[in-house]
Parts: sequence; C-alpha cells; structure tokens
Amino acid sequence: LKRTAIYGVNYEQAKSFKNGEWDFHDADTQQHLHALHPYPARFIPQIPQKAIQSYSSPGDVVLDPFCGCGTTLLESVLAKRTAVGVDNNPVAVLVAQAKISKYSSKDLASIDKFVSNYEQTIKTIEPNKLVLPLYENIEYWFAPKALKELGIIKTVIEDLPPKIRTLALAVFSSIIVRVSNQDSDTRYARIQKCYEAGNAFKWFKSKMLDALSRLRSIYNLPRVEGKVYCQDGKNLAMIKDHTVNLIVTSPPYINAYDYHKYHRHRIHWIGGNPYSARDSEIGKHDTFTRPNATPEKYFADMGMCFNEWVRVLKRNGHILIVIGDGIVNKKPVKVAEEFILMMEKLKLKLVNRWIRHLKKNKKSFNQSARIDEEHVILFKK
Ligand SMILES: C[S@@+](CC[C@H](N)C(=O)[O-])C[C@H]1O[C@@H](n2cnc3c(N)ncnc32)[C@H](O)[C@@H]1O
Repeated sequence: LKRTAIYGVNYEQAKSFKNGEWDFHDADTQQHLHALHPYPARFIPQIPQKAIQSYSSPGDVVLDPFCGCGTTLLESVLAKRTAVGVDNNPVAVLVAQAKISKYSSKDLASIDKFVSNYEQTIKTIEPNKLVLPLYENIEYWFAPKALKELGIIKTVIEDLPPKIRTLALAVFSSIIVRVSNQDSDTRYARIQKCYEAGNAFKWFKSKMLDALSRLRSIYNLPRVEGKVYCQDGKNLAMIKDHTVNLIVTSPPYINAYDYHKYHRHRIHWIGGNPYSARDSEIGKHDTFTRPNATPEKYFADMGMCFNEWVRVLKRNGHILIVIGDGIVNKKPVKVAEEFILMMEKLKLKLVNRWIRHLKKNKKSFNQSARIDEEHVILFKK
C-alpha cells in the first residue's frame, strides 16, 4: 500500500476529495439506446463518456473487456473511437451488438415496416412451426400461453435480415423475465404471476416502438465501427499486442451477482449456452457463498485478465477501472487495494484514484455488504 502513494493518491486522500467528480447523481442515465435492455450493474453512461474524452482521442481504440450491455462501446463509437467489447454472457454480447450497429435510414424504414405489419405477421405463424428452446423445466418458468406467444415472436424474428434480427432479438430478450415466472432481473426465484394472454405480443410491440424512437434520435450521428466478442475475458487472443489506447471497464464485483443465472432464460431463448457462461463467470455469488470460500480464485482470475490487458494496451495507454469492495465469508475484501498492487506488479503506474459515492437509495451490487461507494482507479502503461 505504501507504494501506491508514490505514484498516486491513497484511499484516505481519494476519500477526502468531496468533489464527487465521478458521482453524476443527477445525470440522465436512460438516454437513447443505453436503455434498450435492463442489465444488472450497467455503467451510467457519463462514466465511460468522461473517461473516453479525458484519456483517448478520435480514431483511438477503446476496449471494455467486461462490456456488459455495451455502455462503454456505445459511448466510444459515438465519440468516434473504435470500440472493442468482450463479455462471456451471450445476452450482454447480443445487446451490445444491437447498440453499436450502424443503422441507415433504410434499416429504420424496414424496422418501421416490420412493427407496422407485426400483428398481421404473427397471425400467419402455424403452431407446429414455432421456434421454442428445449430445456428442462421450461414449463415451470412460463405459463403455457406465454410459451406459445414467445415462440411465435421468436419465429417471426428468425426471418428478419441479420442487423434487424439482432435488434429485434435484443428487444425480445428484454421482455423475457417479465413474461416468465422469474421474480426479477436480479432474483432467480419462481413466483406465481398471473399471465394474461396477449401480454408478450403487446410488450414486444411496445418495446420495439420504443427502440425505434430511441434509434431515430441517434442513428444519423457520425459514429465509427465496433466489434463485440462472446469470450472469456481471461483470454483475449483475438486482440493483437499493443493495439488498444484505452481500457474502460467495470469488472464483475466479487460475490455480488450471478449473471448467468439472472439471464438464464434469456440465454436459452436467444440460442446461447448458459452453462459455458456459468462456468467462466468471474466473481459469481454461487462460488463465493460456498462454505469456506476465500477470495483467492477471484484475484487469480482477475490476474489472468490483467495480463491480457497489459499485453493488448499500447505504451502510454490508460486503464480506468470502476470497482467495489466485497465480503466473502463475513470478511471484508479490499478489492481496489489488491487491484492496485496487482497492476503495479505488472509495471503499470497508478496515476489517480477517486471515490464514487452512490446515491443513498442506490446501495448497489452487494446489499449485504451495504456498499455505498465505489473506487475509480486510473493506471498508465
Ligand atoms: C459490472 S458488469 C459490466 C457492466 C457494463 N459496464 C455495462 O455497462 O453494462 C460485469 C460483466 O462482466 C461479465 N463477466 C463475468 N465474467 C466474465 C468473464 N470471465 N469474461 C468476460 N466477461 C465476464 C459479466 O457477464 C458482466 O456483464
């Protein structure tokens, strides 16, 4: 910890900065495509926006190796930086891809036509031709009418041209939890919901119209290309050495979420594999709530990711990480302090650190740990 003070500021100094530089408490976090799909622990867009403006230039490459639903990627392409995103969860990759695709006015007209004809189109689908995912207990999680309606919507989506299909599938994914008997986006438990016939049809149409109006508000802004990979972030072999100017990311918080579980039905419905997402997920609640669990595995996994980040980052490139501390087996885990030591071992320089104060009503991630602040740490290669 002593060494961190040589280059940057220590925790006490960071905490004493009451300027709230990274808080953005009153910011609009639901702008345009950012609100396309719910996503646990989504970045508020102002964080990557500020990092991108401060530590990169137009034409640079910005990587988010835990890109989630693509907040950093969308901000990057709109700021004319090439975006590269990686996530091991197929839902994240689908939504991020839908957000960063370039849509032409012709694409918008096709989406408009699809939505206008949708009620007619669904009537033409024969019940024996439905595209349904086959997995155990599906009937336990969905009412029979809900299953049939989702199957019809999925069948219709399958026939769309690729870019529009991706957008429609992301919108479809956004309604799955609401249509199912799963309690909420961050609680994988069955509750009895009263499914009313026609709800899935209605909710999908209204979300498509919402997506279309969000798209209309930004489609003609200049933007560059981006690429999203469905990949375990411990191995970034598809990215060449020294090609990235800036990494902006929020890694999975230790013992806070089970992304593979909350998104399990969505993953099945979009044709992904929930088991590989589960097996490679870093920091998952499942692992760190086991009796005698210790945080070592989390840091070992993150260490593998850091090695890859250092390899792909250019000289003088920056890494900005937003992370919260956690609790494992009732013991506090000082994640940010450990990350700083790990990065310094990799010869990265800690250039600054800040504390983000979460809104009082938004004690996020790990409710049991009552996290009300996050660390923003900035390194330079
Ligand atoms: C805190 S969230 C990132 C949210 C993102 N900043 C956003 O705005 O949506 C952490 C992400 O790490 C992903 N993740 C967990 N383990 C991973 C792994 N081994 N490789 C790649 N991504 C992983 C999760 O799926 C989740 O999307």
